[in-house]
Amino acid sequence: MTRTPHTPPGPPVVGNVPRFADDPLRFLVGVQEAYGGQYPVVRLEPAGGQRIVVVLDAALVHEILADRERFVRPRVGPEASRREGLLSSRGPLWERQRSVIQPELVGGQLAAYADIAARSVEEMLDRWPENGEIDLVAELSMLTMQVIARSLLGRDATREQARTVYEALDTFAEEFEFGADALLLPDALQSGPSAAFERADADLEAVARDFVDWHREHEDPPDSMLTALIEAERDGVELSEDELIDQTVLFLTAGQETTALTIAYAFHHLSRSPDVRAGVTEEATGVLDGAAPSWEHLSGFDLTERVVRETLRLTPAAWNVTREVRGPTTLGGTRFETDDLVLLPTYAHQREDRVWGDGDAFRPARWTDEVSRSHDSYFPFGSGPRVCIGRQVALTEAQFTLAHTLQQYEVDVHGDELAFEPAITLRPADGLRATVTERE
Ligand code: HEM
Repeated sequence: MTRTPHTPPGPPVVGNVPRFADDPLRFLVGVQEAYGGQYPVVRLEPAGGQRIVVVLDAALVHEILADRERFVRPRVGPEASRREGLLSSRGPLWERQRSVIQPELVGGQLAAYADIAARSVEEMLDRWPENGEIDLVAELSMLTMQVIARSLLGRDATREQARTVYEALDTFAEEFEFGADALLLPDALQSGPSAAFERADADLEAVARDFVDWHREHEDPPDSMLTALIEAERDGVELSEDELIDQTVLFLTAGQETTALTIAYAFHHLSRSPDVRAGVTEEATGVLDGAAPSWEHLSGFDLTERVVRETLRLTPAAWNVTREVRGPTTLGGTRFETDDLVLLPTYAHQREDRVWGDGDAFRPARWTDEVSRSHDSYFPFGSGPRVCIGRQVALTEAQFTLAHTLQQYEVDVHGDELAFEPAITLRPADGLRATVTERE
C-alpha cells in the first residue's frame, strides 16, 4: 500500500511552522516524540513556501540516503554558492571526484594523518597557559584546520590563514540561520548572498589558491590530496582549475568546524561527568604513558572511543541532513513528490527516548551494548554512498586530542546547560570557554 506523508492535524505541526524557524531543534524533537513510531513521515505545509517532509522512521532515513539519484543533496543558503566541491557536486562529476579523493582518506594514509594530528595537538598544548582561560572552540578550530592543511593539502597553514577560514565560517553561519529564509520562503523571495558572504567566500578562495599555487610551483610536492588531484588531472582525468580551487575550499571548511565542535562538546560533556572524565584520563595515562599518541595506540582507546560516539549522538555537529526529491517516487510505502524538501533530523533521531532510553543523558556506557552500535537511529556522518568521507580522520583526531590533552591538562568547560545556534553546523550559542590547568 502506498500512502502520502501524514499531515498531523493541529499543533504542533500545521500552523506552527514559525516555531520550526524559531527553534528547529526543539520543534523536530517534539515532532519525533509525538509522531515517531506512529508515522514514517510527516509533512509540514508552510503557506506558499517549500513543501517539507520530515522522516521519522530510521530505516527509511537510510533507504533515502542510499538513493542518490532520486534524493539529491539540495543547495540551500550559502551552499547555493556556485562552488562544485565534493559536497555539492552530483552525478558523474561527483563519481569522478569521489574516486580520486576516497583513496586519500583510507588505509595507510590514515596512519600518517594520525601522526600529523598528534604533532598538531602537541603544538596546541605548548601554546596553552599553565593555568588560565581559553576560548575552546577557537583553539580547536585552529587545531583541526592545521590537521587538514598538513594532511590533505600538504603543508602548514599560517595562523593568519587559519584565522581567515575560522572567520569565514563565522560569516557563513550568520548568513545561514536555519530558519524562515532558508526553508520557508519560496525561492523567488529569498535574498541572495550578502556582501559579507561574498567577501568571506573570496577570502577562502584566496587561501585555497595559495595552496594550489604552492603545489604547482613545487617540482616535487609532498603526497597529499591536492597532489592526487593535480596528478589525476595530468593523467587525463578532466579536472578544471576551478574544480581544484572548489575542492580545496571544501576541505578547508567541511572538516574543520565539524571536528572542532565535536571535540569541544566532548570536553563539555566530560566536565559535567567527572567520573567519566577521570576514566578517560586514566585510560590516556595508561595507554600513552606520557608519549604522544600514534596509530598503534588507537586500539587501546576504549572509553575514549565511546565518549566520542556518545558526543556525536547527543551533540551531532551535522544536526540535520537534507535531500530534495528529483521526481515523484515511492519508498518504504510513502509517496514523495518532486521538489519536496526532505529533512532527516539527525539530532531528533539520536535523542529519541523510545530508542535510546533517557535520550538526553550523556552515558558513554550505552556503547558497550552491540544493539546501540548498529542502530539505524544513529547517523552522525550520514550514510549510503555520500557518507562523510572524512569520518575516520575526524574520529581519530577527536580521540587523540581528548587523550593527549587530558594526559597533560585538566580541562573545565564553563557553563552548565548548552544553548545551541543551529546553523549549517550545531554551534554553541555562546561559544565554549574553559579553564585549563597543567598537571604536575
Ligand atoms: C566530526 C566531524 C564530522 C562530521 C560530524 C561530519 C558530518 C558529515 C555528514 C553528516 C555528511 C553527509 C551529509 C549529507 O549526506 O548530506 C558529511 C559529508 C562530507 N564530509 Fe563530513 N563530517 C565530519 C568531518 C569531516 C572531515 C574531517 C572531512 C574532510 C577531511 C569531511 C568532509 C566531508 C565531505 C567532503 C563530505 C561530502 C561527501 C560526499 O558527498 O561524497 N567531513 N560529513
